Amino acid sequence: MDAYVPPVEETSGAGSESGPRSGERWEWTQERYRDGMFSHGISSERRRLGLLESLLDGRTRSRITALGLKPGDEVLEVGGGGGSVARWLAEQGARVTVTDLDTTFLEDLTDHGVRVLCHDLYTEDFPPGSFDLIHARYVVLHLPDPDKAVARLAEWLRPGGVLLVEEPASFPVLDSPHPAYRTIMRAFRTHLERSVGSDTGWARTLPVPLESAGLVDIGLDARIQLVNGGDDEAEWWRLNLEQSRQAIVAAGLADDTDFDAAYRELASPSFHDLSLAVLTAWGRRKAV
Ligand SMILES: C[S@@+](CC[C@H](N)C(=O)[O-])C[C@H]1O[C@@H](n2cnc3c(N)ncnc32)[C@H](O)[C@@H]1O
Repeated sequence: MDAYVPPVEETSGAGSESGPRSGERWEWTQERYRDGMFSHGISSERRRLGLLESLLDGRTRSRITALGLKPGDEVLEVGGGGGSVARWLAEQGARVTVTDLDTTFLEDLTDHGVRVLCHDLYTEDFPPGSFDLIHARYVVLHLPDPDKAVARLAEWLRPGGVLLVEEPASFPVLDSPHPAYRTIMRAFRTHLERSVGSDTGWARTLPVPLESAGLVDIGLDARIQLVNGGDDEAEWWRLNLEQSRQAIVAAGLADDTDFDAAYRELASPSFHDLSLAVLTAWGRRKAV
C-alpha cells in the first residue's frame, strides 16, 4: 500500500529544541500514526514489530515481575503492536486487555483469553480505576501531548495500581561518529517528528510526567541500546529506514546515496555504535 504522507509542518514541541514541552503540538487524528510510515499494512511492519519485541521484551518482563504482577491482576497493555507482552502477561495469569489503533496483529490473542480492543488511548476512555497495572512501550512519544496521555493512563489505575512507561529518546544517535549512520539518523528523526508528529526528546523528561499525574513511589531506569553491524537492532533500523525512505528522499532530508551508505554501515561486522536511549518510569496511584 502507499504510505500516508501528511503535509509537512514544523513541530513546535519538545522535539524541536526551542518549543515548550507541554500542551498539544498538533491536532491528533488516528490516521496520522495508523496510515503513515508505521502502518500495519506495510509488508515489513510485522517483522519490524517482532524485532522490537525480541530486543525489548526481556527487560520489560523483568521490570513487570519486579513491580509485583500477580495472577488475577487486571492489566492494560496500550498500543500492543505485535502482542508479545500481552501474551506473556496472560501466561502469568493476569486478566489482560490489549489495545491498539490497528488490532491486525493482536486478534489471535483472544485464543489466549486476552480482551483485544481497537481503542485510541488519546481520545477514548476506560472507567477511572479499572486496572492494577498499565503498560505502554514506544507509544506515548507519538502523541501530540505525551504528558496529557500519561495523565489519562494514570486515571485508569485503581488505587495502588502501577503505571509503567517505556519510551525511546533519540539523542544518542544524533552525534554518532559514523558519518552515514549520523546523517540518516538525523534525517529520520526530522521526518518522524514532521510526519508522525513524534517527540523524540520527550522520554528524557521522565519521570516528571508521572509525578505531575499524582503518582507516588516513582522509579526511573535509563539505558542505551547498542547496535552492531548485522544484528537485530541494525535490522530493526534498516526496516524503519526502508519504510520511510521514499518520503525522506522526497522531502530532501537525505538522498539514496545516504541510505545506501547507512545500510552498508549497518551491515558491516566492524560497525559498533549506540542506538536509542530507553527511559523506563513507573509510579503507583495512591491507595485510599
Ligand atoms: C512502536 S509500536 C510499539 C508496539 C509495542 N508497544 C511494543 O513495544 O512492542 C507503537 C504501537 O502503538 C500503537 N498506537 C499508536 N498510537 C496509539 C494510540 N493513540 N492508541 C493506541 N495505540 C496506539 C501503534 O498502532 C503501534 O502498534
